[in-house]
Amino acid sequence: MTKRVALVTGGTGGLGEAICRALHDSGFRVVAGYNSGGNHEKAKAWQEQQRKDGYEIEVAYGDVTNAESCAQCIKTVEELTGGTVDVLVNNAGITRDGMFKKMSWEQWDEVLSANLDSMFHMTRLVINPMLEKGFGRVINISSVNAQKGQFGQCNYSAAKAGIHGFTKALAQEVASKGVTVNTVSPGYIMTPMVAKIAEEIQQKICATIPVGRFGTPEEIGRTIAFLADENSGYITGSDLSINGGLHMS
Ligand code: CAA
Repeated sequence: MTKRVALVTGGTGGLGEAICRALHDSGFRVVAGYNSGGNHEKAKAWQEQQRKDGYEIEVAYGDVTNAESCAQCIKTVEELTGGTVDVLVNNAGITRDGMFKKMSWEQWDEVLSANLDSMFHMTRLVINPMLEKGFGRVINISSVNAQKGQFGQCNYSAAKAGIHGFTKALAQEVASKGVTVNTVSPGYIMTPMVAKIAEEIQQKICATIPVGRFGTPEEIGRTIAFLADENSGYITGSDLSINGGLHMS
């Protein structure tokens, strides 16, 4: 059987790389979607490093906030792989943290566009081929901060909570056609996004995590590979929390 095609948005980033590698190890033909501010050389260098480490991963440029750019990204994926997307991991996301009383419209809009509108653009482009094929996996990366809220993240918590509604609605629409739609909610995972939180705030957050540490990107990657698996077809509309016990729902 030819390999199934997996596209990971934000695939060259902190979580993305671990997700790409886990899917690669599970036998998928993996494409890392990237934006990198249009820095194609950076993406090529990332790809070269993966190759040196034993991972054959394609890269495809796309700005997930822009519908036309997303369409171009999907076209690139189809050209590179000769197939349509079987597994879409909506992973691309940003933070623009700040207290709401000081938050600008730009801080709100950028986060909603990158974390939530992106889900519409990308999923809309892959869902019909998945339905026609009778197989698909849409895996959306949310956050513990969607479930519990977070001081300084009205924008991010709102966007990430929106992902849950989207997931549960779409899951119902496509369930009978072999397409599953799920959410994964990471807690604080040691990536550049968490590393940029001020050191003393990091320590305060870490002290509230029952497992006593931040998570690793690999701990997220393996969960994505599990949901993407051929045999995970009965899991849909669900949310998997991976947060070291920070929030239990
Ligand atoms: N709860 C209650 N009060 C808090 C608080 C909290 N969690 N955090 C800070 N405060 C208080 C402070 O003690 C301070 O009080 P005083 O004025 O009385 O001293 C006041 O709020 C202002 O706090 P700061 O000095 O921190 O304000 P700031 O404007 O410099 O920074 C902030 C605000 C940028 C939001 C900063 O607090 C921060 O970075 N917080 C962490 C946000 C966070 O967790 N982001 C997650 C990023 S990682 C991610 O998002 C991935 C994922 O999915 C988990």
